[in-house]
Formats: sequence, structure tokens, C-alpha cells
Amino acid sequence: IKNIGVLTSGGDSPGMNAGIRAVVRACAYHKIKCTGIYRGYQGLIEKDFEELNARSVRNVINRGGTFLKSARSRRFMTVEGRVTAHENLISEKIDALVVIGGDGTFTGASVFKKEHNFPIIGIPGTIDNDIRGTDYTIGYDTALNTVVEAIDKIRDTANSHNRLFLVEVMGRDAGDIALNAGIGAGAEEILIPEENLGTERLLESLKRSKKSGKTSSIIVVAEGDQIGKNIFELAEFIETNLEDYEVRVTVLGHIQRGGSPSCYDRVLASRLGIGAVDALLEGKSDMMVGIKDKKLTYVPFDLAISGENEIDIDLRRVADITSI
Ligand code: F6P
Repeated sequence: IKNIGVLTSGGDSPGMNAGIRAVVRACAYHKIKCTGIYRGYQGLIEKDFEELNARSVRNVINRGGTFLKSARSRRFMTVEGRVTAHENLISEKIDALVVIGGDGTFTGASVFKKEHNFPIIGIPGTIDNDIRGTDYTIGYDTALNTVVEAIDKIRDTANSHNRLFLVEVMGRDAGDIALNAGIGAGAEEILIPEENLGTERLLESLKRSKKSGKTSSIIVVAEGDQIGKNIFELAEFIETNLEDYEVRVTVLGHIQRGGSPSCYDRVLASRLGIGAVDALLEGKSDMMVGIKDKKLTYVPFDLAISGENEIDIDLRRVADITSI
């Protein structure tokens, strides 16, 4: 392998820059060329390439977002798009790819590998933490801290006004952000996509906590929760069905995807970046490099994107007991 291409794809996450930096510097260390590919798979199809050297990635470890930019490429979902992408890799003499992203990125990588037998290693980069075969994804820790900081502020005003706040956090299919940030921020209730506890139970629980002396409450709601109402409808539902409740809604949105990465995410991204280049040089492909029990692991793409996200039963119990 003489030239490794690197790209970021799908929703960005804090720490992606640290991951790119590690890949670029690992290439420099092994004295191989590194080609940056802009705008994910879209840039691969449009040949938006730039050679990167060790100095190209100075002053990026602390920056959120991804300087290579990201995209969710529709063209890469077509056979023709992937043929063009392959032709561009060959003409640019790129021998292998490192792709940083989430399940969509790995699905694309897996199909591309099968069609063109091109060496690819994936690095999990998404705030959702919804990838199998790794304990953590790049950006998740930073996003948790962002959410907790925001809810701490909401708590101040909720408390001053004796209000109930519904706070929506990201996670279409995964409740990891909601459950962990909910525990960290001391939420009263946490609604996640992996379980449907129902609206009646929610009302009962709110009544109980009011009786027990609580004057304000925070409910963390994951985007993809199963309650069957959007967050504004849920607020209205609570106000109509419970007496004396003033409800407000805050949707945290993309603030969760930005900001300077935490130390944990920087170190994780650095380890995974080095691990990805090592893997390609050892002849591995069609795999994601992850972290399990503090050690680097390699799992096939198919496994990384398989199955549904599962909640940690123990964490759910912690949330239930601590919010009593
Ligand atoms: O996958 C990361 C994520 O931030 C999800 O949590 C969220 O549902 C989605 O991306 C939002 O996507 P977009 O930025 O395209 O609106």
C-alpha cells in the first residue's frame, strides 16, 4: 500500500478531525502518501481530492466538525456512482480507504468492497453511539457533555418557575445519548427508541413525583422515542391531563453535533486512526476498528451495522432508582 485515502461521511461528530489527523500522521510515519477526500463519498465521485501531509493537520485536534467536510451522498447509493468512485481511486493511484462515519457510511463501504474488492477500513464516528462492535463512537462523549451542560442550564430556570421541561436530544434509533445524559443531568424520566413505556405510565410517574414534593422536572426525550407523539404534542398532552403543570419544550438539535471534542474523544479518535492504518498495512479490509474493554478490536462491517440498538438494562435501573 502506497497511498491511503481518507474521508468523513454522514452526520459529523466532534473528534472526526482528530481521527483524520491520526490517519494522516500514521501515513507520514509509515512513509506512505495520504489523500484527503472532501465531502465524503460525494467527493470520491467528484474527485475532490487533496494530498495531505503531517503539517496539513496541524491545529485541528481541538476543532469540532470535519475539515474534510461531510455529506450523505445519494449518488454513492447507485451502482454507477460507485463505479465512478472506483475509477477515480484507480486513476489517483489510491490503494486503500479509511472511512470515518456511522452506519450509513459502513453500509456504503461494505457494498463498495463487495463490488470492487477495494481495501477499506472504517472508523466509527457518530454522536449516536449506535454501532455494534465498539463500546464508544467518536463524538459521543462530547455530545453527552454538551447535553448535560445544556440541561443544567434548563434546570435553573425550570426550578425558578416550578416548570416541567421536555428536552429533546438526538438519536433516531438509539437512546444512548438520552439515557446517559439523562442520568448525568438528573432527569426525572427518559424516553428512548428502544422501549415504549406508554403515556399512562408517564402521567402516573409525574403525579407520584409531585406528591413526593418535586416542584420542577426534566424529561429527556430521544428524537426517535416510541411514545407516538412529537414532543410538542406530548407537552400538550401532559398539560391537558395533569392539573397545575406548566410545560415547556427545548429541542437541543444540532448544537449536540458541534463544539471542541472532549479529551476522551480526541484520544479515542487518535487510537482508532492509527489502528485503521495499521489494519490496512496488515492486509485487513471490510472491517471497522473499534474499542472494546479498552482494547482495539476489528469487526466486519456487516456485524458493525447489524441488528437493533439495545439498551443497557443496568443503566435503565440506575435511571429509575436515582430519579425516585
Ligand atoms: O446520526 C447522527 C444524527 O445526528 C442523528 O442523531 C440525527 O437523527 C441525525 O444525525 C440528523 O441528521 P441531519 O444532520 O442530516 O439532519
